[in-house]
Amino acid sequence: MRYAALLVWASCIPVMGWCADSPKNIPPGSDASIERAVDSILARLTLEQKVGQLVQYTSSWNDSLTGPGERRADILERIEAGTIGSILNASGARLTRELQDIAVKQSRTGIPLLFGLDVIHGYRTMFPVPLAEAASWDPSAVERSAHVSAIEAAAAGIHWTFAPMVDIALDPRWGRIVEGSGEDPHLGAVMAAARVRGFQTHNLRSPSTLLACPKHFAAYGGAEGGRDYNTVDVSERTLRDLYLPPFKAALDAGALSTMSSFNEIAGVPSTGNRWLLTDLLRKEWGFTGMVVSDWNSIGELVKHGVAETLAEAARMGITAGTDMDMEADAYWLHLPELVKSGAVPSAVLDEAVRRVLRTKFRIGLFDDPYRWTSTATERSLLLHPDHLAAARDVARKSIVLLKNHGQLLPLRKDLPRLAVIGPLADSDDDPLGPWSAKGRREDVVTLREGIQRAVSPATIVEYARGCSIDTVGTDGFPAALALARTADAVILALGEDRDMSGEAACRSTLDLPGSQQALLEAVVQTGKPVVLVLMNGRPLSIPWADEHTPAILEGWFLGVQAGNALADVLFGDYNPSGKLPVTFPRTAGQVPIYYNHKNTGRPGDADDHWTSKYLDLPLTPLYPFGYGLSYTSFRYDDIRLSRNSMTREDTLRVTVRLSNTGKRFGEEVVQMYIRDNVGSVTRPIMELKGFHKVGLEAGDSRDVEFVITQDCLKFTDHAMQYRVEPGTFTVMIGPHSAQVQSRIFTLQ
Ligand code: NOJ
Repeated sequence: MRYAALLVWASCIPVMGWCADSPKNIPPGSDASIERAVDSILARLTLEQKVGQLVQYTSSWNDSLTGPGERRADILERIEAGTIGSILNASGARLTRELQDIAVKQSRTGIPLLFGLDVIHGYRTMFPVPLAEAASWDPSAVERSAHVSAIEAAAAGIHWTFAPMVDIALDPRWGRIVEGSGEDPHLGAVMAAARVRGFQTHNLRSPSTLLACPKHFAAYGGAEGGRDYNTVDVSERTLRDLYLPPFKAALDAGALSTMSSFNEIAGVPSTGNRWLLTDLLRKEWGFTGMVVSDWNSIGELVKHGVAETLAEAARMGITAGTDMDMEADAYWLHLPELVKSGAVPSAVLDEAVRRVLRTKFRIGLFDDPYRWTSTATERSLLLHPDHLAAARDVARKSIVLLKNHGQLLPLRKDLPRLAVIGPLADSDDDPLGPWSAKGRREDVVTLREGIQRAVSPATIVEYARGCSIDTVGTDGFPAALALARTADAVILALGEDRDMSGEAACRSTLDLPGSQQALLEAVVQTGKPVVLVLMNGRPLSIPWADEHTPAILEGWFLGVQAGNALADVLFGDYNPSGKLPVTFPRTAGQVPIYYNHKNTGRPGDADDHWTSKYLDLPLTPLYPFGYGLSYTSFRYDDIRLSRNSMTREDTLRVTVRLSNTGKRFGEEVVQMYIRDNVGSVTRPIMELKGFHKVGLEAGDSRDVEFVITQDCLKFTDHAMQYRVEPGTFTVMIGPHSAQVQSRIFTLQ
C-alpha cells in the first residue's frame, strides 16, 4: 500500500498542474485544476489519513516550544504513517528537507508536510517589532520587511508564517500589543495588507514567499484588563467596525489562512464559533483558505466550559470551521470515531481536508515539496547585506521623537565625551524583541555600538549600566552618575526587557520597571543634557520623564540594526518621521484611553463636575495617537474642500498645503480623520481615514490631497447594515489626532 500509494501520487504530482488527462479547458495551476486534484487525492485517503491532514504538531527538534506542553516522541512515525499534515517550530533547510523526504517518499500518503513558524518580524535578520514598524506609517517599508522575512524563512524551509498579527489593542497592559499595529483599525488594515503582500507577493508558488496567516480571529486584543487569554465581550458592531477591518484587509490582500483566537466573544470561544468561522468568514466574506486553531485552543474549549470532553471539543471545532488542530490532539484522538458514529458528518471532515490540501497546492508543495530549499541558498540569504540595509531603514523610520526641548537633538558627532547609560544601552538581546524566530544576540548592533560607530574618532564614549531592568537596586548608580557628571551629554536607555511583552507577558503598570525611574531622576539631576532612549514593547507611562528630560526618543525593540538606526537619529543622519500608532497614557489608571472613543452623553470637561473624567488626572493622554516630532517643523495652511456636499456616487477632495518651515529635509505623516456628526448609533469622535507620508526639503511646500468616498463614511448601523447615512460630517486634518483643523461637509 505504502509505495503503491506513493507511486500513484508521484505520478499525480505533475498531474496536479498539467495532467495528461486534464481536460483542455482546465488550465494547469488554476483553481479548477487544483480542485480536481484535491478531489482525486481525497478519494484515495483513509479516514485516519484524512484526519491526519488536519493535525499540526510542534517539532521535537530545533526550535523552541511556543506554548505549554511536551514535545512528542512519535513525530517521525506519524510522518511515516502519513497521519500528520503540518509541523510547527521546525526550521532550517536541512531538517525540513529530511522531514519532507520522509513525508513524500516514505509515508503512506506521499502528501507533503506544511511547515509553519512564527515569523513575526524577521527570521534571522530581525526587524523592528510590528508595533514599532506601524510607527513608521510607511506601508512600503513594512511590506519590504515582511518580504525579507519571507525570503529568509522560505530559504530555511518554512512555508507558512503565523503572521501578520492584526489584533487591535486598546489596552497597553496586554503584552501582545507589541505584535500588532496598535489601536486603530485603518492603520491596522493598511499595515495588515502590506504585510500580507510582503509575505505572499502576488505569486505564492514563488520560492521566496510565505503563506500568511492573519491572526487571532477575532478580537483577541479585547481581553478584559489587558490580561492575556482573558474574556472578551464586545458587541457585534464593535467587532465589525473596530476589530475586524484589519482581518478583512489582510484577506482582501490575498491571505489564504487565518488562526482562530484563544478568547471567547460574548460567551462563545472563537475556535468553536460557527458564526465567526463559517457564517461571517466564509459565507459573508467568501474566504476560501484554511483556519488553524491556536495552540491547543480546541482543547481549551473544555476549560472554557463549553465542551465537556475533548471529543466534544473536537466536534465543536470542526463543525465551527476550524480546519487544523494545532497541538490539542483532539482531532487525531476523536475525529475518526466522531465521523464513524455520524456525530460529525463525513462531508464536514472532507471539507476541512480539502481546504488543507488546497492550501498545499496553492503554495506549490505538490510541484516541489521542498520548495527549492537548499542549505547553500539558506546560507547565502540569511543576514544578506540587503536585508540588513532594509532592517536599518525600517528601524529608523520606526523611531518616534517624543520630545526635543531646545533642539537638544540631533547631537553633534564631535562632542568630546558621551556617557551611554542604562540597562538597555548595551543589551544585545532585548532589541530582538519577543517572537524573534532565529534572531541571535550576536547579530545585534547595540545602542552603545551604534553610537561608537557614529561619533568622531576623538569622541570618548563611556558606558555604565546603572541598574538592571527589572530588579530593585542602586548599586550601579554611583558609577553611572560619575560618568554622567564628566560627560557633555548623556544618552540614557531605559525600558522593558524583551520578555516583558509578547504572549503571556502582561503588566499591571506601565511604569519603568525596577529602579530605572530612580536612575533617570538621578541622572537628570546631574544637570547634564540627557537624551532618554526608550526600548519597550508597549506604551509606557512616563510623565516624570516628559516633564524633566529634555529629549525623548521612542526606540521600541528595533531588531538587529537597532544601534545603527538609533545612532542615525541621535546624530541627525536621519530625521525622525515616526508617529505613535497607539496612545500613551499618563498612568495605567487611565487605560483604556484611545483617540477614537465615543463622545458619551457627558463628554469630559475639566470645568464641569458632572462629566466623564477622573478627578485626579487631566482628560488628555501623555502622547496622543499619531503624535511624533521631527528635527524640522511643518506648517499646515487652511484646509480646502472641493465642495461642501457630496452624494453617495461622487467623491470630495480635501486639500491642505504643507510647508517645511525648518532648516532641513523632513518627512511628515499628514493624517485625515472624519467624524459622522449624527448617526443612527453613536459614532467615534474621530476616525483615521487616510494618511500620506510626505517628504519636503527645507522651505518647500506641497498640496496634500485626500479623496473622500462613501467607503470612508460607512459603518455598521442600527440595523447591523454596513452603510453610509446622509447627514453632516466633520473632516479633520493635522499632524496628529489631538491637533487638527476641521471642515464640515454634507452627504446627501
Ligand atoms: C500561540 C500564539 O497565540 C500564536 O500567536 C502562535 O502563532 C502559536 N502559539 C504558535 O506558536
